[in-house]
Amino acid sequence: MPGSHSRLLDEPNVRTLAEKISERLDAVQPHPQVGELSLGSRQIHVWHARLDRSEAELEAFRASLSPEEKSRAGRFLDPIHQNRFSAGRGILRYLLGRYLKMDPREIEFGYGGQGKPYLVGISPPLTLQFNLSHAHESALYAFVLDHLIGIDLERIDRSIQVDTIAAHFFAPGEVRRLNSLPDEEKLEAFIKCWTRKEAFIKAVGDGLAYPLDRFEVSFEPGEPARILRVEGKPGEEQRWWVHAWQPEPGFTAALVVSGQGWEISFMEYEA
Ligand SMILES: CC(C)(COP(=O)(O)OP(=O)(O)OC[C@H]1O[C@@H](n2cnc3c(N)ncnc32)[C@H](O)[C@@H]1OP(=O)(O)O)[C@@H](O)C(=O)NCCC(=O)NCCS
Repeated sequence: MPGSHSRLLDEPNVRTLAEKISERLDAVQPHPQVGELSLGSRQIHVWHARLDRSEAELEAFRASLSPEEKSRAGRFLDPIHQNRFSAGRGILRYLLGRYLKMDPREIEFGYGGQGKPYLVGISPPLTLQFNLSHAHESALYAFVLDHLIGIDLERIDRSIQVDTIAAHFFAPGEVRRLNSLPDEEKLEAFIKCWTRKEAFIKAVGDGLAYPLDRFEVSFEPGEPARILRVEGKPGEEQRWWVHAWQPEPGFTAALVVSGQGWEISFMEYEA
């Protein structure tokens, strides 16, 4: 497999893994079955990766894929998309392999009713949960123990028909709040709303089968990222923790995790 190391991004709440481990040694025992990369019970790891990789790396990634993944890659017409899919899954397998101390080729995925991938064939009580999102040449991977997790990455596309899409998909309260913003703030607010909503439906696992107009998220400038309301489930919004950020210029991301009190680390996958 291609080599990799983590480079922590320059964020105020990000410290190196070594610092974290030594500081929290007494407080957090690394999960006994999570290997080379360790996750504490209150930690979330988010990895950013570029999917346009060298031919040598792609070859190694392809070799790690299951027959089903190879066949999915082959169904993309454009070789760029074939390669990005192979890199996306290859990097996922590589990172999972480091957490699980497993050969990436041995990792087996199962899929929920709406396609959310999860790990199978790993003896309990291991509960490493993950989710990923890709947009163009970039991908984000999120890992946590024992909790539901969803991540979404979107490129800020200035040609989006904000009003039409919002009117069609968003909750009435979100449409009203979006419409009350000045025109120059609408696109950014729309993308924030969309990524937070997608991260939520991916955490739940339902994907777009979950009606986007049945829950509301924050998105106004200066507002902390959170789930505001879930229709038919009073208090449900308290169950979820949301983090939103700009992983690179021109892109917006959101992460939704069940539970509260998380500590998040950002890392860069590099060859
Ligand atoms: C999940 C969904 C919202 C993702 O939309 P997107 O913005 O196009 O894609 P993203 O890049 O953010 O995420 C894609 C990744 O999410 C994961 N994913 C797929 N379905 C998921 C789900 N229901 N919940 C959470 N994650 C899911 C996969 O890892 C996928 O990447 P990969 O297959 O290349 O590994 C959308 O694909 C969806 O609603 N799917 C469910 C509906 C469906 O297709 N059902 C068919 C039954 S299998």
